[in-house]
Amino acid sequence: MIKIVEVGPRDGLQNEFSMVPTSAKIDFVNALSRTGVNEIEVSAFVSPKKIPQLQDAAIVFEKIHRVKGVVYSALVPNEKGLERAFQAGVDKVSLFTAASETFNQKNINTSIKGSLARFRPVVTQAGKRGRPIRAYISTAFWCAFEGKISAQKVVNLASSLMDMGIDELSISDTIGKATPDDVEQLMDSLLPIVPPDRIAVHYHDTYANGIANVLKSLSYGIRTVDASVGGLGGCPFAPGATGNVSTEDVIRALRNAGETLTANIDRLLQARELLNPYLPAPSLPETDPPDCSTCEFFNNGLCCGRHELTL
Ligand code: HMG
Ligand code: MG
Repeated sequence: MIKIVEVGPRDGLQNEFSMVPTSAKIDFVNALSRTGVNEIEVSAFVSPKKIPQLQDAAIVFEKIHRVKGVVYSALVPNEKGLERAFQAGVDKVSLFTAASETFNQKNINTSIKGSLARFRPVVTQAGKRGRPIRAYISTAFWCAFEGKISAQKVVNLASSLMDMGIDELSISDTIGKATPDDVEQLMDSLLPIVPPDRIAVHYHDTYANGIANVLKSLSYGIRTVDASVGGLGGCPFAPGATGNVSTEDVIRALRNAGETLTANIDRLLQARELLNPYLPAPSLPETDPPDCSTCEFFNNGLCCGRHELTL
């Protein structure tokens, strides 16, 4: 069986310019709870100055109706976030760091080493309260600022996180640029040190490789897939990244591949429709590649990653 982690309420809504009302978020999570997904990443207990869109995390957790069997998780960056998350009654804590130093500085204002130091007391406290802990490794393949990330960097970081006592690693293609070959290269190096039942995959879909990457990951025995309904998502500190691979596409593709999934596509789409009044309609795909020289992130031949065709 494949486990779906629906990250729309967190990864999706953190990246929207518009502020979705708290009541709509609660309705969205409640509707997602009835879709058959296994876990819902409800929100993030991060700095409200950095991500104002999710500053109502505690209220959302307080008001949702939890369905038995569904895991309600949240992003936690530090001890302060953990305390807030415990008060809100999260089932599972999700830490996040990256294999790229530059992205880490922009996203969490510290180095890779600094992030690990921050995590240690969080892991100890979460362990004492019996909460499972996930850790994301962002920019596991490509970074908007550093380009291609070596598999060895990811393996080293994964190894430190496993030694610390992390239960699950979510290997993340933050800017959605990985190909199945990139996935193969990383998984060949990672699987000898992390068993597949402790790995989740988190693919953004900027280049429409998300489904191919999920299928490649499954061929390694990985059974946990992050996705967001309607392909919502992106990270405000990863320029050019679009949403996560959509939950409905993942379900269709994996069912076609003969896998068993509990989630219901119609109910997922009904849940996504609840957000329609608050989110802009999806934009049409670009017909021409944008002009790289106008990209504010252009630097030494690297930009947000979407403009490479014009370099
Ligand atoms: P910092 O900038 O180093 O500063 O924060 P600080 O720790 O000194 O705190 C600064 C202020 O924030 C202080 O308030 C703190 O109290 C407050 P002030 O004194 O200025 O009034 N603060 C907090 N408030 C509430 N909850 C907290 C908290 N922590 C500090 N937990 C920090 C470091 C990591 C907290 C900050 O940089 C931050 O919140 N970053 C979050 C960035 C983020 O959420 N990014 C998006 C999620 S990651 C992602 O999308 C990738 C992923 O999807 C996987 C993938 O696709 O790659 C997971
Ligand atoms: Mg993400």
